[in-house]
Amino acid sequence: MHDSRLEAIASYRDAFPHITPLITDWSAHENQGADSFHAIKETLGILATTDQAIPLRYKRADATDPQVLAWIDELVEGASPARVSGVRKVSTGPSLLLLGPTGTGKTFQGYGAIRRLSILGVNASPSAAPIADIYAKMRPRHQVDSEEVFESYAHTPLLFADDLGAAKTSEWVEEVNMRLVNYRYDRQLPTIFTSNVPPKELGAKIGERVASRLIEMCRTVVLKGDDRRRQGRAA
Ligand SMILES: Nc1ncnc2c1ncn2[C@@H]1O[C@H](COP(=O)(O)OP(=O)(O)OP(=O)(O)O)[C@@H](O)[C@H]1O
Ligand SMILES: [Mg+2]
Repeated sequence: MHDSRLEAIASYRDAFPHITPLITDWSAHENQGADSFHAIKETLGILATTDQAIPLRYKRADATDPQVLAWIDELVEGASPARVSGVRKVSTGPSLLLLGPTGTGKTFQGYGAIRRLSILGVNASPSAAPIADIYAKMRPRHQVDSEEVFESYAHTPLLFADDLGAAKTSEWVEEVNMRLVNYRYDRQLPTIFTSNVPPKELGAKIGERVASRLIEMCRTVVLKGDDRRRQGRAA
């Protein structure tokens, strides 16, 4: 059982050999007073659920931008070890706002950050979706509890809300944006946002009150360059 879990952990880690996990030696981890059986089980769970949250196109994505890497370091430092397993769990911390024109790699860096946390062995329980999909799931309709859907995204330890400001605006969309951002802002829950709205137009596009919160809660990274999809530089 132990061996098959260790093999499964290695198979996830093998695809990202340049990332050094926080725990590499399970017996040393045990010697530090942690329960390595639980740590191995939890680590495999983190790797598997994170892999499921990453869509096919971004399966090999890794965070490479230095500011994104610095944000990951901050989150890892703030993540405290669980009592029994000693595995670090993300709780509160800064958010990340990835800006830049179409095709500059915002979604790639976002999924790359989520992947990196999992390879490091940090429990972030990520939920990831284009924000338009979150609106679609929340739309009031028969037998759907919009509030329950909202809460499932609002509560999640690490939320990746892709493409903020891309959907057609309406009062309802503005209200959802405000509630979601404000919920995460108040509780200092780490969130990755991406948007291809130019920084100066963000307030006009998503509302000044939402933009103001984002600026305070996020490390902002502006990606530059050409559209990788048109350059043939896409993965
Ligand atoms: N650092 C990278 N290395 C290799 N491929 C990359 C890298 N960054 C992005 N790509 C690839 O380039 C393409 C565009 O990247 P991505 O989807 O992240 O752009 P985006 O900024 O999110 O664009 P949009 O604003 O249209 O959503 C994708 O196929 C992605 O896999
Ligand atoms: Mg994108």
